[in-house]
Amino acid sequence: LSTIRVDVSGVAPGSQLTVKWLGKPVFIRHRTPDEVEKAKLQDEALADGSASPLVDTLARNDNIDPNAPATDENRTMPNPEGSDEVAETWLVQMGVCTHLGCVPLGDSGDFGGWFCPCHGSHYDMAGRIRKGPAPQNLHIPPTSWVDASTILLG
Ligand code: FES
Repeated sequence: LSTIRVDVSGVAPGSQLTVKWLGKPVFIRHRTPDEVEKAKLQDEALADGSASPLVDTLARNDNIDPNAPATDENRTMPNPEGSDEVAETWLVQMGVCTHLGCVPLGDSGDFGGWFCPCHGSHYDMAGRIRKGPAPQNLHIPPTSWVDASTILLG
């Protein structure tokens, strides 16, 4: 398995860096505390039934148990050691729509996350499929922190 190191020191809160790994795009999203809060509200709405149930209930996160549920916490990276940012700040996922593989657009769609323009799949702030033909949440590749500002992919 090939690995790459990504320097994320320049990825400001509220922005996303796209890198190529194994020939595919990977989205590295640095969320603001406000975005984390909104993502948690999405989880609460799912838990209390005020939002439509998830299409795909699995986290699809290569770093944890394959049966883990698709909570925001289970889809985000733990913060690097020494970080003073709120938990669930870093979301790293494949930029590959699980329908037929187009690249979804960030900051779009009906759920404040990503939108795939090819056939209209809407992903939420945790990259979970909420509407449209895609069958699964955006996949989360193997990730770890090399140091406080470098992510290892793969
Ligand atoms: Fe994304 Fe079809 S490839 S909706």
